[in-house]
Amino acid sequence: MSAEVLIRPARNLRGSLCLPGDKSISHRYAMLAGIANGVSRLENFATGADCNSTLECMRQLGCEVTRTADAKTGVVAVELEGSGLRLKAADGKLDCGNSGSTMRMLSGILAGQEFASELVGDASLSRRPMARIIRPLRDMGAAVGANNDLPPLRIRGGRLKGIDYRLPVASAQVKTCLMLAGLFAEGSTVIEEPVRTRDHGELALRSFGAEVDELASNRWRVRGGQTLRPIHAVVPGDISTAAFFLCAAALFPEANLVLDNLLLNPTRAAVLDVLRSLGLKISVLQVEQRHGELTGVIQVRSGPLRGATIAGALSAALIDELPVLAAIAPYTAEGIEIRDARELRVKESDRIAAVAANLRAMGAEVEEREDGLRVPGGQHLHGAELPSFDDHRIAMAFAVAALRAQGESVIKDADAARISFPEFYTTLERLVER
Ligand code: S3P
Repeated sequence: MSAEVLIRPARNLRGSLCLPGDKSISHRYAMLAGIANGVSRLENFATGADCNSTLECMRQLGCEVTRTADAKTGVVAVELEGSGLRLKAADGKLDCGNSGSTMRMLSGILAGQEFASELVGDASLSRRPMARIIRPLRDMGAAVGANNDLPPLRIRGGRLKGIDYRLPVASAQVKTCLMLAGLFAEGSTVIEEPVRTRDHGELALRSFGAEVDELASNRWRVRGGQTLRPIHAVVPGDISTAAFFLCAAALFPEANLVLDNLLLNPTRAAVLDVLRSLGLKISVLQVEQRHGELTGVIQVRSGPLRGATIAGALSAALIDELPVLAAIAPYTAEGIEIRDARELRVKESDRIAAVAANLRAMGAEVEEREDGLRVPGGQHLHGAELPSFDDHRIAMAFAVAALRAQGESVIKDADAARISFPEFYTTLERLVER
């Protein structure tokens, strides 16, 4: 894919989509399959580079992994043979690429292995905070080394003991990391989160046959020594990827979009509520539950966009969708204000600074704050050169914003999108009308 992508303004967006599997679920299924007893089959697995990093790490740790992509549809299926809770030491370093999820969640499994591992990442991942997993894994008894709490991570696992731990930041990656470590610990591991975050770790563990007790809506217990059975699953379409197309639809009054096999898990679906409150008409045409995950078909029609304030627990629930919501905010009537989202500063890029810089490059007025942004509505934007900051969600957010700008835009280092959705630009082109 070329490093630059030209985005021309569009006049409408219509069509239907069936997206590759959710990234958060694909990571978790791949890791759990690797420590289950037998062969798991994961259909509609995520197509992005992040989940490939997880598959490669599992392969290096001794799991047999077969990944096939349908020649016509591109749909990916993965077969992964787990050999139980004990993995093999990797030959070399485990390369997590750009994927914080791989590094943070896999660390929970490695903390329980009786060998040493080294996890490395690219330049962006090497800047991301790891103290959030290092502290509790050390409390459980693992030896974890890092550079000032930054990657690379050196983990020597071994006998772990259960802990009762309250997470200092709302992070589902950390919650899942500790649940995975809890499988290897003596006794029970209890995890409390400041606000409830996405629950894919809990649901996936249960699907693979483990018991996870919900002690309160934000407090969980995992017993050590539980064994896992393999699963056959179809991963629901990624709702965080869907958010880019939903926000693109929001820009055009005549838009009409149908999304099939879409993840509708309530801990991830807040973006649908916010878009509804902005003015989108979203109908759920069909819904079912698979491996504990709600999945369905939705239809989206657009209308005039009002405004929104996003704060508190809602900011945590929308953490991956905030960049694209901020990017369409100038086109709403009343604008969008985002608060309590400091975590955006330590994602694949500083997403608050990146969004503010690109909105300004397009001529928008925006107020950047330590923990968020205020973007006034009723603005007219012009096309611009828009860097991706090597961040997939920034690249895709501004490809969307550029659809309603006056004049053409160029997304620089646009191939950052390959991290979660390599097919993004071709899919967007298929749906827009000019
Ligand atoms: C994820 C949790 C979020 C999110 C990331 C995926 C997960 O990160 O930003 O894209 O799968 O658990 P944090 O746990 O750091 O908030």
